[in-house]
Amino acid sequence: MSDTIQKNHDYKKFVIDSKLQYFKPHATKIEKTFAEEIYFSLGQDSKFIDPKFFYDKKGSELFEKICSLPEYYPTRTEISILKKMHDELSSYIDDDFRLVELGSGTSVKTRLIFDIFTKLQDTIEYFPIDISDILTESSEQLLQDYDNLFITGIVDTYDGGLEFLKTYDDKKNLIIFLGSSYGNFFTNDGFAFLKKINSTMKSGDLFLIGLDLVKDKQILESAYNDSQGITAEFNLNTLSRINNELDADFDLKNFEHFAIYNEDKQRIEMYLKSLVKQSVIISKSNLLLNLEKDELIHTEHSHKFRLTQIDELLNGAGFEIKHTWLDDNKHFSLTLASKN
Ligand code: AVJ
Repeated sequence: MSDTIQKNHDYKKFVIDSKLQYFKPHATKIEKTFAEEIYFSLGQDSKFIDPKFFYDKKGSELFEKICSLPEYYPTRTEISILKKMHDELSSYIDDDFRLVELGSGTSVKTRLIFDIFTKLQDTIEYFPIDISDILTESSEQLLQDYDNLFITGIVDTYDGGLEFLKTYDDKKNLIIFLGSSYGNFFTNDGFAFLKKINSTMKSGDLFLIGLDLVKDKQILESAYNDSQGITAEFNLNTLSRINNELDADFDLKNFEHFAIYNEDKQRIEMYLKSLVKQSVIISKSNLLLNLEKDELIHTEHSHKFRLTQIDELLNGAGFEIKHTWLDDNKHFSLTLASKN
């Protein structure tokens, strides 16, 4: 968890126009560079690459493609639940709420929630929190499509952004964290993050989280091993990114996408498998990487949850659950909670 507590005055406000502004922390935080993180994560015996590095321009485009693959059920299922829960969610919202999103780029889902706000409010305030991705074409598009919309981006880590919001004003926040992005966290880090969210909430604030559920192994594994090979491309793209940005010489032909469901740990595990014994130079990390044949580089965990575990998790982190919505197949969940 971040130990940089941000106060309002540490942020600089940038006004783009009357409908779009953003806040950015003044202080340059001591963040490790891509080169340093890769030096660390590939420089040890069990090698890994942080899944946040999937999302360069190409990676984000590939992820968009994944979301509409026939095998990748989470996105379309979550959207179907959001449509179905419209009226029920409305009953928890009034004219004093703003929408805060952890991440930005779930535009279809965000729109479904705007539709609820539009019915209850004359103007909608939307605060996406994202370290990099706020001033995208999608916010431009949103502003064109909703003339009652005001966007205030917070260009920071989730922790920083939430901390900033805590003292921002008295307006109530509906904080949304969709897409089972939470599934990427290691168990302890995830729990700490939920407690962090809870601690930055005011009484009256609400939290809506979308989580993928434990289900048949075949369904899970084909969602991460699609027949068109897009997930493979998405996984391998990390190596191209390292090649381009860190002057490395990964030969992508020597690697294979590998994704498997670990039933014990209730998570999809994604790896890049080295097909031959090989050495790779990563110049900007100052690293000579030696890989054995069949050696695995871990690239992602995607945790799946049981409903009882979601209850325990949220209650344990100080939330009171208001409502959990599911699709008919019980493949995905959306849970609304308040601060206890
Ligand atoms: C964005 C983390 C929710 O785990 O399902 C999709 C990312 N990786 N296919 C997921 C992902 C491979 C996705 N999350």
